[in-house]
Amino acid sequence: MADAANGRSVLITGGNRGIGLAIAEAFLANGDQVAVTFRSQTELPEGILGVQADVTDEASVDAAFSAVEAAHGPVEIVVANAGITKDTLLLRMSEDDFTSVIDTNLTGAFRVIKRASRGMIKLRKGRVILISSVSGLYGAPGQINYSASKAGMVGIARSLTRELGSRNITANVVAPGMIRTDMTDELPEQTKRDYLAAIPAGRFAEASEVADVVRWLSSDEAGYISGAVIPVDGGLGMGH
Ligand SMILES: NC(=O)c1ccc[n+]([C@@H]2O[C@H](COP(=O)([O-])OP(=O)(O)OC[C@H]3O[C@@H](n4cnc5c(N)ncnc54)[C@H](OP(=O)(O)O)[C@@H]3O)[C@@H](O)[C@H]2O)c1
Repeated sequence: MADAANGRSVLITGGNRGIGLAIAEAFLANGDQVAVTFRSQTELPEGILGVQADVTDEASVDAAFSAVEAAHGPVEIVVANAGITKDTLLLRMSEDDFTSVIDTNLTGAFRVIKRASRGMIKLRKGRVILISSVSGLYGAPGQINYSASKAGMVGIARSLTRELGSRNITANVVAPGMIRTDMTDELPEQTKRDYLAAIPAGRFAEASEVADVVRWLSSDEAGYISGAVIPVDGGLGMGH
C-alpha cells in the first residue's frame, strides 16, 4: 500500500543485500527516496542510491549521511540494519569475538542513530527502526555476543523514545526470526532443521516479509507506535 507521505529521504545501513536490500526495495516501491550503505562496491537496483560506509567508523557514517542529505535532503527514516555474527560457545568466545560484534551491531546502530537524530530534530519528525533479532530476547546458544548486541537495541529504542518522543520522532525495534539470507545460509544444516522444528509457522521467512513491517512502521498509520518490539518470526520467540 502506498504511503501518503512518499518522497521521504530514507537511509538503510547494510542495504546492499539480504534484509537491508529488501527494505530498500519496499521503500522504493512506496515512492520514497532511498539510499543504502554498502562496504564493498556492489550492484544496486536502479533508483537506489549507494553510499559507502562502515558503521564501525564514525567519520565514515558522517560522510555517508552528508552524501545522502546532499542528494535527497535530511534523512527522515533511518533503518539500522547492518549486522554481523561471530557464533561460538562462551568458553571459546574471545573478547574480540564479543566486542567486534557489539561494535558493529550495537555501537554501529548508536553511531547511525546519533547522526540521524540531528536532522530529525531540525525536521521535527523522524522514524528510527532498529533491526534486532529473536536471539536478543529468546537467547541462542553460541550467540552471547550477538544476543547481547540485539537486546541492547531495545534499550536504545526505549530511551530514544523517552528523549525524542515529544518531537514527533518514533523509535522501534523489529525482531526477525529465521529469514532466508546469506546470514542464515551459512548455518549448519542440523541447526537449520532444529530451528525449523521450533518455528510454529513451519518455515523460514523471506526478507520481504521483514521489509513490509519496517515500511509500515514508518507510515502515518504507525505514528503512535514507539518503543515497541515487533517480532517477525513465525511465532518462534512468542512471549519473549
Ligand atoms: N537473516 C536472519 O535470519 C536474521 C534474523 C534476525 C536478525 N537479522 C538481522 O538483520 C540484519 C540483516 O541481516 P541479513 O541476514 O540481511 O545479513 P547479511 O545478508 O549478512 O547482510 C548484512 C549486511 O550488513 C552489512 N554490514 C556488516 N557489517 C557492516 C559494517 N561494519 N558496516 C557497514 N555495513 C556492514 C553487510 O555489508 P557487506 O555486504 O559489505 O558485508 C550487509 O549489507 C542484521 O542486523 C541481522 O543481525 C537477520
